[in-house]
Amino acid sequence: MENIHDFRLPAINLIGVGALKDLPLELIPYKLSKALIVTDKNIISLGHVEVVEKILKDLSISYDIFDGILHPDCTISFVEDALTYFKKGLNILKRDYHFIISIGGGTNHDCAKGIAIVATNGGDIEDYEGYKKLKKPSLPVIAINTTSGSGSEVSDSTIVRDNSRRVKMVITDPKMMPIISVNDLRFMTTMPPKITANSGIDVLTHSIEGFVAIEASPITDTLAINALKLVFEYLRRAYKNGNDMEAREKMMFAGVMGGMILNNAGLGYVHSMSHQIGALYEEMHGACNAALLPHVLEFNSISIPEERILKISETMGVKATNKQDAINKIKNGIQNLAEDIGLPTHLSSIGIDKDDLELLSKNAEKDICSSTNPRRGTFVDIMNIFKAAM
Ligand SMILES: [Fe+2]
Repeated sequence: MENIHDFRLPAINLIGVGALKDLPLELIPYKLSKALIVTDKNIISLGHVEVVEKILKDLSISYDIFDGILHPDCTISFVEDALTYFKKGLNILKRDYHFIISIGGGTNHDCAKGIAIVATNGGDIEDYEGYKKLKKPSLPVIAINTTSGSGSEVSDSTIVRDNSRRVKMVITDPKMMPIISVNDLRFMTTMPPKITANSGIDVLTHSIEGFVAIEASPITDTLAINALKLVFEYLRRAYKNGNDMEAREKMMFAGVMGGMILNNAGLGYVHSMSHQIGALYEEMHGACNAALLPHVLEFNSISIPEERILKISETMGVKATNKQDAINKIKNGIQNLAEDIGLPTHLSSIGIDKDDLELLSKNAEKDICSSTNPRRGTFVDIMNIFKAAM
């Protein structure tokens, strides 16, 4: 019986304190001469773009900057704004820019990938919703990360909010995998505590969802267990003291591993449901995950082997005697961590209206992340998970 586990990530991943200094050497062989930088005004004000501009100037690579991204999510309009930014049309964009450099967190990388897709494939970004819909490789993307958590810099997915349909689209295709990712700790020291908390819980969720996802493999298992361990050891420290460089560095590595996990093991209902809350409420992704993860884990537990549940609790440093004991302790551990870093543990406290649960459940059922959830649920099951998380 066939049992295939592809493992994809960018060809080059520069990781560590000062990692950006290796970017010029990696860029030279590509012989690229014009870049479009995709970022936002905050990242510019922090001085991160200026550092990259100097590298491009030294390499005689010309560039333009699109800084029109607003947080917290990539939307269709941000992608469209970028495509029309220079008022030259798509063909000029395709001809003039050899590659895109995204500087920022997941939102900026997602927008950059969206622009890169349409630049070479034409049409509208909505045309590519789903799995492997691209006809041609996207423009090459170099993703320079300034937060640690989304994993977008090492994934071949982009998540784009469609405000007219009130959904978040997931577009997945190896043809848009960034060619180079950069995770340089020096760009991450400016992350405020709220972002540290949200992105840290996102890493935790990628680790647990990926560990129990149906596409998990021994490779992603190793990444998931290591990332989970790092989150429980270092996230509280990184949140409490942004200058704790050891904690920041460990969380950066956990974030990269989380991206590799989600890209290769898939995720599950926490992300399906969290995506759709984000589409309606613009609530931060990590906060939604924190409230949903314990309840999705409870729902999934019947389909997860006992030894895998016990492995999660053991990695969290919790002793459990059996599967249900472990589930209870994992749920408490997640909720305690969320409380300690200022995140809500209930959806009602982030303002989710119970009248929206039907629409949220309908959209979550269709979300691509549902396809790798370990237990197949119905619309009613998903609705019940939402209710339990309220
Ligand atoms: Fe996530």
